[in-house]
Amino acid sequence: MKISYVTAALAAIAVGGVVWVAQAAPADDVKARQAVMKEMGSNVGAITKMLKGEAPYDAAVAQKSADAIAAAAKKVPDAFKPNTGDAGPTEAKATIWSNWQGFTDKATALDTEASKLADVAKKGDQAALAE
Ligand code: HEM
Repeated sequence: MKISYVTAALAAIAVGGVVWVAQAAPADDVKARQAVMKEMGSNVGAITKMLKGEAPYDAAVAQKSADAIAAAAKKVPDAFKPNTGDAGPTEAKATIWSNWQGFTDKATALDTEASKLADVAKKGDQAALAE
């Protein structure tokens, strides 16, 4: 009988551990998607600085940054896990998941535009890039 109590106690601890892990994951999901967005931000920033004349124009950097924006855009759907709308400090709105198609459409649109930007950057024409 005693053994079964011990077994039950261990099982409870094990289950508790699993629950704890399951609860910790959504907050990490939020951090991970925010990291994807920071990646977007830093690469848009790199291009913007060049176009504003705050950094020397460098076609290779523009192309690399545009590629990174497109790559980050491709990560968007997977980075927004279900049931993480209120998991930790987040700006994400519930409409992301209630209108999932609309959300992923925007990510796809950004991917398309970033690919065009990378193509323009490849030509090394600063004016075309600005346009
Ligand atoms: C070049 C385009 C984009 C830039 C520069 C950008 C930048 C950012 C930045 C800097 C943040 C704040 C991250 C943080 O809290 O540390 C953010 C958050 C967010 N972005 Fe973007 N983003 C872009 C495109 C997109 C796209 C295409 C989507 C969706 C289709 C999107 C959805 C979101 C959402 C939902 C958040 C809130 C995330 C959260 O707090 O959990 N963003 N973005």
